[in-house]
Parts: sequence; structure tokens; C-alpha cells
Amino acid sequence: MDDRTKVVPTSASVPSGAPMMKPAPGGERAAKLRRLFPTVHYLREHAQKRIPRFGYEATDGGHGRDLGIERNASALDSIELIPRYGIDKGTCDMSVNLFGKRYAAPIGVAPIGLPGIVWPGAEKYMARAAKKAGVPFCAGTVASFTVEELAKEAEDMLWFQLYRMPQQDHAHGFDLVRRAQSAGAQALVITMDVPIRTKRSREIRQGLVLPFRMNATTIMDVLSSPPWLAAYLKHGLTRFANYAPYVEGPPTPEKLASYSSKDHTGGGAFSWEEVARYRDVWKGPLVAKGIMHPRDAEKAVSLGCEGIQVSNHGGRQVEGLAASIDVLPAIVEAVGNKATVLFDSGVRSGLDVTRALALGAKAAFAGKAFLYGLGAIGGEGPGFVLDMFKEEIREALRQCGINTIADAGKIELRHPTKWQF
Ligand SMILES: Cc1cc2nc3c(=O)[nH]c(=O)nc-3n(C[C@H](O)[C@H](O)[C@H](O)COP(=O)(O)O)c2cc1C
Repeated sequence: MDDRTKVVPTSASVPSGAPMMKPAPGGERAAKLRRLFPTVHYLREHAQKRIPRFGYEATDGGHGRDLGIERNASALDSIELIPRYGIDKGTCDMSVNLFGKRYAAPIGVAPIGLPGIVWPGAEKYMARAAKKAGVPFCAGTVASFTVEELAKEAEDMLWFQLYRMPQQDHAHGFDLVRRAQSAGAQALVITMDVPIRTKRSREIRQGLVLPFRMNATTIMDVLSSPPWLAAYLKHGLTRFANYAPYVEGPPTPEKLASYSSKDHTGGGAFSWEEVARYRDVWKGPLVAKGIMHPRDAEKAVSLGCEGIQVSNHGGRQVEGLAASIDVLPAIVEAVGNKATVLFDSGVRSGLDVTRALALGAKAAFAGKAFLYGLGAIGGEGPGFVLDMFKEEIREALRQCGINTIADAGKIELRHPTKWQF
């Protein structure tokens, strides 16, 4: 419809008895963004055009041929919910209690290593958006800003993710955990599922190596992405900020990258014995992230983990892994009455969050969705995505006759690809 034929709703054109259109919440800018990007898929499409190619490929890609990403998506899509009518109360209480703390919605920002490549300053924007929305922001070990810096943005919404740092019998890892505790992190998330850095084909094809360095191709890419360039001039290159105290002498990008490749990318995954040691050091709720087998979930809980984050790392480790939504029910059955089960991998909408809640997760986290938001609209992106998720969760719950998150597990559904152990 072009401007000449557009129907402008006025009191004269609205049928009598129909409500007048209210001004859009958040003003004209918010209304414009909602029109341009009704779902995360439109953000992804726009991000691809707006940011340098290396940034998009590092965000959008996974392991091998991206089959793991596709499997997560198709497994989620295959879950059908049954609607219920006549019982809607006209409201929806979205709040959720995780580890004794109330959050505004059952969604959080998953830890994302070096997201500055997608949008310089990304962590700060995600942390601020999470604080504003009242949902968890999980800062990563591998971040361009220290956990102390991110605590200033996320405040009491801060969680902290730990990669294995075995140097000096874990002295550095323990130190980082204590720093996160002093900075006010509400939960420690230990990433169990990275025994080795696997083949990320699309990053390899972009020639991405650490420390990140510009070359002729990347410079051309950046010059054709002025908004990204402006963010880069403001926030600088992506770096491993948390490691600075652990390298000798000035923390040059080379030293920090070499430190990083010696631990989580080259040093193997956490053993259960190491998890038990971190349990002793960390005084708050402990979450094992990357759990895909009910027996591993039981083991983690027996060692004192209060949370289990079911995840296949968003399809970025080995593409042949099961979809994490397909193992979620068995893990909820095994430990759901003893621990808080969280979910991630493939969440692109509030409907996906609702599917995970219906299968017994207490909250779901997303990674790529926030990066697409950053790529498409910059610093406002993460907040925009959080609002979108909240709206979509509300839609899905109320269509199923559910008015509070605590009742989401009552939704009747069909899950054809579910794993039986
Ligand atoms: C670019 C990128 C970097 C990531 N870095 C980390 C990380 O440093 N630590 C970690 O535990 N998980 C990391 N993840 C995995 C996420 O925490 C999460 O498990 C995954 O993104 C969920 O899948 P989704 O992206 O489909 O939502 C990363 C994911 C992406 C996309």
C-alpha cells in the first residue's frame, strides 16, 4: 500500500464501538522498529547487510556445516502446543524465581565470548538492557570488559560464566571467581561442554584468528559498515579483559590471546573433581552449563550444583549433537525436583521460550538473537529483543490459557523428536 491509498484511522473511520488506536508504547522510534523487525528473523536478515562480513559470519555460524544450528531450530519448530480457551484472565504474570531471586521474565542473555566482533561494546549494551528488563545477563570469561566493569552495567542482574583456567592449579580460575563474587554476580555458570575448540567453518573462511587483527579485507569490510565503524571508534577492538592480571608484564593483545588459547581452547574441559573444587570456592548458586545427559545432570547435582543449563552450545561445538530441546524432558525428569533446569540453544522467539517452559525448564537463555539485534540496530538491539521475547511469551501463554509462568508446565503439547534415555 503506498501513501496515497493508506487508510489513516480517525474517529470517523473507526467503526462505532471499536477502541481508538492508542499511541504506540515507546514512541515513534519504537513503533518503527517493531514495524521493520516483527521477529528475530528480520533482525538477522538486516544484520547481515549492516555489519562487516567477518562479524556476521562469526555470529551466525556454528560447527561444520551448521547442521547443529538447523537441528536445534527444527526440533523447536516441531513442538506443537494445544491452545485452551474460556479460562484466560486477561493478564500474564511473567516473573520467575531463580535461586531465590525474582526476575521480571523467564529469559536471560547467555554468555557470549568476544561479541565485540559483532558490535563493539556489545557486552555493555546487553548488560544494560538486561538490567532495564530485570532479567539475568551472564557475563563471559572471554569478554572485552572485565566482570567488574560489567557489574556496573548489569548490577544485580549479573551472572558470571567460567571457562576452565587450570594455570597454577586453578589459582587464576579461583581468583576470577572470587572477583565475580565481589562484583556481585548472582550465579556462577561453569561451561562443561568445551573440551576442545572445534571447527567453525565460517570463521575459518573469514580468516579470523586471535588476537583479532585488521587486514586489507577486514578494513574494506569495516569501511562499508559505517555504523559498526562508529561503534568501533567508541569502544575499540575486542580483547580478553578478564585475563589482564594473569599475564606477565603489560597485557598486550598477543599475550592475552596466547593465555586464552592455553586454557579453555587448548586445555580440555572441567572434570567433576574440578567442579567440586569450584563448589567450595563459590558461595552462591552454581550452574553446570552444557549438560545433555540425565546422568551428567545427576552427577552435577550430587556435587552441589543448584542449576543445570541444558545446552549444546547453540550448535557451535559438534554439529552431530542432539538438539538440546530434545534432551530437556529427560533431564527435567531426572533432576527437576532437586535443581533449577535452565535451557538454551536455538531460542529465537518467546514462543521457543514457552516451549522450553512447557517442557519443564524454569527459564531459557538466548545467544544469537541478541547478536542479531545488535547487528541490525546497534546498542538498542538487546533491549528490543528482550521486549519482543516478553511480548511473544505473553502471546503464547495466553493462547494456551496460561496466566502465570509457574503454570507453563501445564501446557499440553506434542514433541515428536524427544529423546528417551
Ligand atoms: C558468538 C557466540 C559466542 C559464544 N561464546 C560463549 C562463551 O564464551 N561461553 C559459553 O559458555 N557459551 C558461549 N556461547 C554459547 C552461548 O552461551 C549459548 O549456549 C548459545 O548461544 C545458545 O544458542 P543460541 O545462540 O541459538 O541462542 C557462544 C555463542 C555464540 C553465538
